[in-house]
Amino acid sequence: MKNFVITFAVAFVLGIALTAVGINYLNQGPDYPKGVMTVMGMKMSALKNNIQQNRCAPTDIIPHLQTLRYVGNDIEAAFGEMSDNEQFIRYASDFRATADGALTVPAANCAAAEAALSRMGKACENCHRDYKN
Ligand code: HEC
Repeated sequence: MKNFVITFAVAFVLGIALTAVGINYLNQGPDYPKGVMTVMGMKMSALKNNIQQNRCAPTDIIPHLQTLRYVGNDIEAAFGEMSDNEQFIRYASDFRATADGALTVPAANCAAAEAALSRMGKACENCHRDYKN
């Protein structure tokens, strides 16, 4: 009987604790900065896959570039506390300028797409080097 009471008490306390952990997790809500970065990461991977599979027609490349460019508009908004850090803003606009360049002169072949991808990758890295741990 004593063992049962102890087991019950432990299970009861554990149950409450884990419920609290679960509710906390569900309450976190969407993570805007991670969301923006995740989408940009997915689009960069999609472009890399296209190049590896030798699918570099404008219809393969341009939609990914557009998403990258438009989601890039939200970098400052997503990282609220960074939105008046001049260097951060410069990195974000550099990225957008690079994506604009890729959209203005759409890649005619995979070599050109790869060059554009590499330029954009450098723009991502520049900011990550200083602001991502
Ligand atoms: C102006 C700055 C800036 C630019 C430009 C930028 N990032 Fe980021 N990125 C960050 C910061 C800051 C973090 C760290 C976020 C955190 O830990 O909450 C990050 C994190 C990430 C992450 C990890 C997200 C996670 O789940 O923790 C990915 C993936 C990512 N960036 C992809 C990219 C890609 C791809 C590009 C370019 C196409 C890019 N980023 C351009 C600032 C930037």
